[in-house]
Amino acid sequence: MSGVAIIGAGGHGRVVASVLQAANREAAGFIDSGAPADLPLPLLGQDKDIPKLIEDGVIDSFIIGLGSVKGGASLRAKLFDGLIEQGLTPAVAIHPMAMLSHGVKIGAGSVLMAGAIINTGTSIGRNCIVNTGAIIDHDGDIKDHVHIAPGVICSGNVTVGQHSLLGVGSTVKQGVTIGANVTIGAGSVVLSDITSGATAYGNPAKIP
Ligand SMILES: CC(C)(COP(=O)(O)OP(=O)(O)OC[C@H]1O[C@@H](n2cnc3c(N)ncnc32)[C@H](O)[C@@H]1OP(=O)(O)O)[C@@H](O)C(=O)NCCC(=O)NCCS
Repeated sequence: MSGVAIIGAGGHGRVVASVLQAANREAAGFIDSGAPADLPLPLLGQDKDIPKLIEDGVIDSFIIGLGSVKGGASLRAKLFDGLIEQGLTPAVAIHPMAMLSHGVKIGAGSVLMAGAIINTGTSIGRNCIVNTGAIIDHDGDIKDHVHIAPGVICSGNVTVGQHSLLGVGSTVKQGVTIGANVTIGAGSVVLSDITSGATAYGNPAKIP
């Protein structure tokens, strides 16, 4: 039976594997060019092996297992589009200890780690990461390929543009709009809108 390929067997990819396992959805294995030993699932091959793995019925879907790598969100986005072009379907992984309330929408290819809380009316785009213990309160609008790092708190009505990273432990005030391709520094407190392409950090978060 065909299964889910996790693209990348580093730390983030192995957490994705554990999310699928906790949700009783064992993945087929990892795709990686140089994976560490002692993986929790088989190493299926490298990127170049994907067409054969599809043809042989080993994989039919994927989740990007790259978290905070160099080139971050744009690399994750490029991979995402490329894998769909190759014929794979983006899968969704939601840890059973994530909490989703009424009306929450989760886009294809997104991953919700343990302890994530998504409140009513929030929409999460495609290929997003809502990492361990992150909170996105009501009516949030999180666009495609966004990484919400562990322990982030977004108040109600927060918008985050595509390809942006909210660094670990950052906090966003209600109603704030964060543009596309933004990096919010670890531990920052975002009190006002952040323009697309900016890096902002500190309390209150500022663009240096
Ligand atoms: C904001 C960030 C992108 C800046 O990275 P950078 O451009 O390489 O900046 P540097 O590390 O060279 O630091 C530049 C200055 O900003 C300060 N700074 C960096 N990050 C900061 C942060 N999060 N909060 C406050 N100050 C910060 C540094 O102390 C340094 O100050 P100095 O010039 O007085 O010494 C990075 O520090 C960061 O916080 N990234 C988020 C990482 C993360 O949470 N990833 C998720 C993992 S799952």
